[in-house]
Amino acid sequence: MRFFATTVTGLEDIVATEVSRLLGVDAVTDVSKVFFETTLEGCALLNYSAKSVNKVYLLVARGEVGGLAEIEEVAAAPVIVELIDRYQSFAVRAERHGVHDFTSLDIAAAVGKAIIESYRSVTGVRLRVDLNNPDVEFLAILRDGDFILGLNTTGLSLHHRYYRVRHHRAGLSPTVAHSMLMIASWQPGESLLDPFCGSGTIPIEAAIHALNIHPGLRMENLAMTKLRIFSHEMLSGLRERLMGEEEAPRPLDIAGIDASPRAIVDAETNLEKAGLKGCVDLSIGDALNLEKFIKKPYTKIVCNPPFGVRMGLRDPYSFYTKAFSSMRKASPGSSLTLIASKPVVVTRALEDSGWTVIGERRIILGSIAGCIITAEQ
Ligand SMILES: C[S@@+](CC[C@H](N)C(=O)[O-])C[C@H]1O[C@@H](n2cnc3c(N)ncnc32)[C@H](O)[C@@H]1O
Repeated sequence: MRFFATTVTGLEDIVATEVSRLLGVDAVTDVSKVFFETTLEGCALLNYSAKSVNKVYLLVARGEVGGLAEIEEVAAAPVIVELIDRYQSFAVRAERHGVHDFTSLDIAAAVGKAIIESYRSVTGVRLRVDLNNPDVEFLAILRDGDFILGLNTTGLSLHHRYYRVRHHRAGLSPTVAHSMLMIASWQPGESLLDPFCGSGTIPIEAAIHALNIHPGLRMENLAMTKLRIFSHEMLSGLRERLMGEEEAPRPLDIAGIDASPRAIVDAETNLEKAGLKGCVDLSIGDALNLEKFIKKPYTKIVCNPPFGVRMGLRDPYSFYTKAFSSMRKASPGSSLTLIASKPVVVTRALEDSGWTVIGERRIILGSIAGCIITAEQ
């Protein structure tokens, strides 16, 4: 069976590597998604275990199309009847990229019509549409002439982690945080510091990775639990096996610092909710004077520094230069991976404070562009 996993644009290779590692299959990258072959059990494993993936879809149909009539034809895939129970409701979400003389709502309507008609022609049953709380959700994507129809096996995106009870106003997506750890080539066992930890996303994701915790096991209402193609025995057997693979919480060489006492309280609350109290060292501190707050160098620094006037940053160049100089002084020899919205200023500040940029990649988070930069001393 063919599936695709979605991600933030710019992190496709990270997701492909994770899919290949977890499932032992090749994964092919596309814009904000990766395609691969696996079984339903492989798909369930990804929903339970993946840390860089947002959603996993079963590929229902794909084809080159010229307009809405052809979209309807491709969407009327014979397999639809096997995917929905007659009493279940469904919804179609649609995305459109490129120049077309119709909207994404037109695509959703055309696909919805095709699903209703093809189901009725085989079963005699007219399926119910529920756009607010459907039992089964499809995603239709049209990119220029390439049309893809997927069945959502995840439900709400996996970046909604179970531990996030306290939200930071500039909080980082946990799937991006995990990807940054992979870009930094951080290995469990290596020491890690986030000097701008906010609500703790990066240190908590690091601890989850180090202890082989499967975040999706704690996700409520994964869509696949409602889908008739997934057997309950298979899912519960897999859950049990994965639970058995998780390591017991223990203190790890992972630290988070933030200047805001409120942020540290929130990070501690999230850490506790993650079931990882005491695994990560979280403390109040100033990243511009790190040598006063950390007692030893860290192998890797991974962080999401503040950006914009809204976060009180009136002179970003001077703030970043002080922060990067302080990191070098307090943690000689470490490498640094960070996410920035103003890569030009950040790169200049890095170079002027003695760092060498060794990698840079653009990502797109919704409508916001960001850049993940890696530097060495
Ligand atoms: C973009 S937020 C980090 C959000 C975090 N990654 C999360 O997911 O919650 C930047 C953080 O830097 C902190 N900060 C600002 N100036 C600081 C300083 N001089 N030293 C340490 N932390 C600082 C802010 O309090 C804020 O929590």
